[in-house]
Amino acid sequence: MPEPSILITGGAGYIGSHTARQLGAAGRRIVTLDNLSTGFREAVLYGDLIEGDTGDQELVSHLLRDYNVDTVLHFAAHTIVPESVEKPLKYYANNTCNTRNLLECCANAGVRHFVFSSTAAVYGIPADSPVCAEDTPTAPINPYGSSKLMSEQMIRDLGKASDMRHVILRYFNVAGSDPEGRIGQSTKNATLLIKVAAEAAVGKRDTLYIFGTDFPTPDGTGVRDYIHVEDLAMAHVDALRYLEGGGDSATLNVGYGHGYSVREVLDTVQRVHGAPLRILERERRAGDPPALIAAAERIRETLGWTPRFDDLEAIAAHSIAWERKQLESPWTE
Ligand code: UD1
Repeated sequence: MPEPSILITGGAGYIGSHTARQLGAAGRRIVTLDNLSTGFREAVLYGDLIEGDTGDQELVSHLLRDYNVDTVLHFAAHTIVPESVEKPLKYYANNTCNTRNLLECCANAGVRHFVFSSTAAVYGIPADSPVCAEDTPTAPINPYGSSKLMSEQMIRDLGKASDMRHVILRYFNVAGSDPEGRIGQSTKNATLLIKVAAEAAVGKRDTLYIFGTDFPTPDGTGVRDYIHVEDLAMAHVDALRYLEGGGDSATLNVGYGHGYSVREVLDTVQRVHGAPLRILERERRAGDPPALIAAAERIRETLGWTPRFDDLEAIAAHSIAWERKQLESPWTE
């Protein structure tokens, strides 16, 4: 029997690859499962890459057995909110049905620990306050959020019916890239604010748009809790250590607990870049809440998570550095 391994689904993607890199560097045995639909082979720096779908039960059962997997970190998912509105079944198929199939394989193989990538999109538009605690009622407003919430429910139900313990991490707005520039966010047709602003800084886009200037926020633009991907990756490493130490199943927000407006983000990107960018104002984007901020205490108390990059300038600098590197030698697959 080989030594136990950690399976990372979506390990060739943005957040999965940063987590895999941290685990690999710490000497953990990992194996990545990714169908490379949005991920990149170049992002996998440690362990084997198995190409395939999380819903392929024959493949996954063999993989769990062959690598003696006792822990699964499940990142693989579609993540583009507007696309989820246009193609809901694509999101339910990959994010919900495939997760169900993966969970069944995990249950059959006796996997003990499961860490799941969920999202602040499960909160929808919070009624009273932009600060969402984990017990704020969930009310997703798009199929992306619903597809993730349904998976959360399956994981909790399976937890009650078996010995598998889990940590569900609800990400707020992820940004930035590896501070040492080895990996980063290479998603094509990006829509995320800091990603597109960094693309503009290196000349990949000529115009940036502010979607909505009439929100009930201090400067009228949307406010979000932007978290550095390196800190988010570390939350997974901490979650793993917590479960291995016997911790109870938990659902935790991952955010810093404070927000920045679109204007503040764009000001910071321009300051770090050292030159103004062309910015136009547009109508609100459908379904955008005015403000969304994590209540961020529970993860610190539960996992001892101590972020190191709660710094918008660092997030902007790392994002721009990555875009520059991609201009010189883009990832192709
Ligand atoms: C959303 C989801 C999040 C998901 C992410 C990826 C919600 C509440 N959150 O984040 O779970 O992981 O999408 O699809 O559904 N903005 C501009 N101009 C731009 C881009 C964005 O003004 O070019 C504004 C948006 O209106 C918003 C803020 O910037 O106020 C952040 O937007 P974005 O980076 O796209 O992320 P969310 O929509 O917050």
